[in-house]
Amino acid sequence: MSFALEGKVALVTGGGRGIGKAIAKRFAAAGAQVVVASRKMENLESTVAECAGLPGRVAAVACHVGKVDQLQRLVAETEKQFGPVDILVNNSATNIGQGPALEVTDEALLKTMEINVLAAHRLIRMIVPGMMERGKGGSIINIASIAGLRPQTHGLVYSSTKAALLMMTRVWAVEFGGHRIRVNAICPGLIQTDFSEYFWKNEEYMERLKDTQPLPYLGQPEEIAGMALYLASEESTYVTGTAMVVDGGATAR
Ligand SMILES: NC(=O)c1ccc[n+]([C@@H]2O[C@H](COP(=O)([O-])OP(=O)(O)OC[C@H]3O[C@@H](n4cnc5c(N)ncnc54)[C@H](OP(=O)(O)O)[C@@H]3O)[C@@H](O)[C@H]2O)c1
Repeated sequence: MSFALEGKVALVTGGGRGIGKAIAKRFAAAGAQVVVASRKMENLESTVAECAGLPGRVAAVACHVGKVDQLQRLVAETEKQFGPVDILVNNSATNIGQGPALEVTDEALLKTMEINVLAAHRLIRMIVPGMMERGKGGSIINIASIAGLRPQTHGLVYSSTKAALLMMTRVWAVEFGGHRIRVNAICPGLIQTDFSEYFWKNEEYMERLKDTQPLPYLGQPEEIAGMALYLASEESTYVTGTAMVVDGGATAR
């Protein structure tokens, strides 16, 4: 058993900053060839630059995960550069449309579903048939959230997309297990990234967090990357269909 990822090809959406960047760096350090994908090429290129010198090579592909043709191009480009995908991390997400449930528009719900849920479904349909044919298994990691386990205030849109991703993770795990393709989710708590600055820049919120969270500090992207490495590696061969909570104990109460 080992945490090494030599000989593996990983695709990480949203790998240009935050949690996705930390995961890409951890995978490259473990020897994987990694493609990072999101809309902003300059962010992706900073990940590539920071990974120079690590054992695994990293390449950037610009991709809006809400567009089918761009997803198809992403998969084709990944295969061209490194070969077929062994590890897929569905990490890109958006959080538009926060607010009282009665004010949520159809557009906000549909748009968020497209980025947070449909993109994962589409990538899985593009990648998993090939994994099955090759017969060497695979690991799919969906970055969900503790907001998918319990409602976030004014979070109808975001929480319900993450809850959908958690259930889809279990369905995929059930259907793909016979091919040794494992599908797991990670549910981060509050992690210091651009995505969550609304919360961690709020002093009152942070005071409350320090008083109530068993590990009384703001989580860092690298603390999610460790769990992703575990789920991608041979160390987790008997683990599928789970939702790994990495939240400083926030949901333990
Ligand atoms: N931070 C937290 O507290 C927290 C807690 C629970 C769960 N999460 C989850 O963790 C994951 C990563 O979030 P993060 O905190 O690392 O946030 P982040 O730093 O804002 O990263 C979000 C990533 O998603 C990408 N993205 C957004 N829209 C996209 C689109 N349409 N197409 C392609 N890529 C897109 C962004 O890249 P571009 O802008 O370049 O497209 C960016 O790389 C998300 O799934 C989020 O829901 C975060």
